[in-house]
Amino acid sequence: MPRYDPFDHDLQSDPWPTYEWLREERPLYHAEDLGFHALSRHADVDAAYRDTALFSSSHGVTLEQWGPDAHRFSSFLAMDPPRHTGMRALVSAGFTPRRVREMEPVVRRLAVRHLDAALAGGGTFDLIGDYAAKVPVDVISTMIGVPAADRPRIRTWSERLLERPDGVRGVPGSMREANRALAGYYADLVRERRREPADDLASALIHAEAGGAALTDRDIVPVLMLLGVAGNETTAKLVGNAWHAAWRDPGQREAAWDGGVAGWVEETLRWDGPGQMSARLLTADTVFHGVTVPAGSRVLLLVGAANRDPRVFADPGRFDIGRDTGDAVPFAVGPHFCLGAGLARLEARVMLEELTARVRPGYEIDLRAARRAYNPNVHGFATLPTTVGL
Ligand code: HEM
Repeated sequence: MPRYDPFDHDLQSDPWPTYEWLREERPLYHAEDLGFHALSRHADVDAAYRDTALFSSSHGVTLEQWGPDAHRFSSFLAMDPPRHTGMRALVSAGFTPRRVREMEPVVRRLAVRHLDAALAGGGTFDLIGDYAAKVPVDVISTMIGVPAADRPRIRTWSERLLERPDGVRGVPGSMREANRALAGYYADLVRERRREPADDLASALIHAEAGGAALTDRDIVPVLMLLGVAGNETTAKLVGNAWHAAWRDPGQREAAWDGGVAGWVEETLRWDGPGQMSARLLTADTVFHGVTVPAGSRVLLLVGAANRDPRVFADPGRFDIGRDTGDAVPFAVGPHFCLGAGLARLEARVMLEELTARVRPGYEIDLRAARRAYNPNVHGFATLPTTVGL
């Protein structure tokens, strides 16, 4: 019988046949040895995201950081309403559509700078390491208020957070260290901004009030950690997956170059989005597909499977940048809908627009030299060697 193990190498490189089996044959899957149940149909995943009373985020949302103290690393991502609502509201002013639109010149300037450097070598470079992973870290550092001189350090720690030694289940020591270093850095930054406020997210949080009381550093640092980390690997992988998807399909690639970048981003989010799953804690005994799952169980919501559910998307395995992807859930739905979705879309669009403006559509990827990230939560490449014609 097939088996679903999100830590399995082969599964990570090609999860789609397993997702199809789950959706059609085991819409409620129980991995007894790994300690989770999994829901894979679009209707189930969509409903679960919206029902935060039954599907709690209080133990975290990833497979590795699971436990009642998850909010210490990831703040309101690992909280339920009403606590979640209050904390998220304090940050959301920094991510309104207007604020995101205002970021476009900054994003473009950073994208151009990193692409210039990547192309300086003559046209062969690593699309992820030399470009797609560099832009998001710089953008969010700018928004948080990290001074330019400190950004190389932030970049190094952020890169270390992405280096998951092959085969390691759980959180590797290198990640823990990078997490600690980032927490220490943000705590210093908050102290600095208390002394001298600036027009940035760190200062805005210092002056925000939750329920009439000012936030403490214990509240603020996890928020900065969440913001500083959530959009880096995900957005880099989105651009890499888009680059890979269009490379496989010359017709779609021509369409992307022919003014179709926004559709290219949206279809990649559906067809091969970076976010593959969210974990939740079930708060009451509940029947799914005729089976009772007990309260206290860990339930995985398989976003990647839901986005290829044929009940919602016609011919779901076909990559088609012209299709309507409105029902896809790559950023979740409901109260935890990705706060950075607009920013991620902007960053991906700008990075791909700059590529289409500068290089010819007939690029090559050296797939044998490419390496997928070993990561059960985020799907995509750690390196994607590419050669472009200028
Ligand atoms: C939450 C996906 C980029 C910030 C989420 C969630 C998903 C997601 C699925 C919900 C997680 C859950 O509740 O289980 C993505 C993808 C991205 C991306 C696929 C890129 C393609 C970003 C960016 C930021 C960001 C650029 C900016 C800082 C956040 C935050 C949350 C979140 C703060 C927590 C929201 C809450 O709990 O209310 N993201 N994200 N994300 N994301 Fe993103």
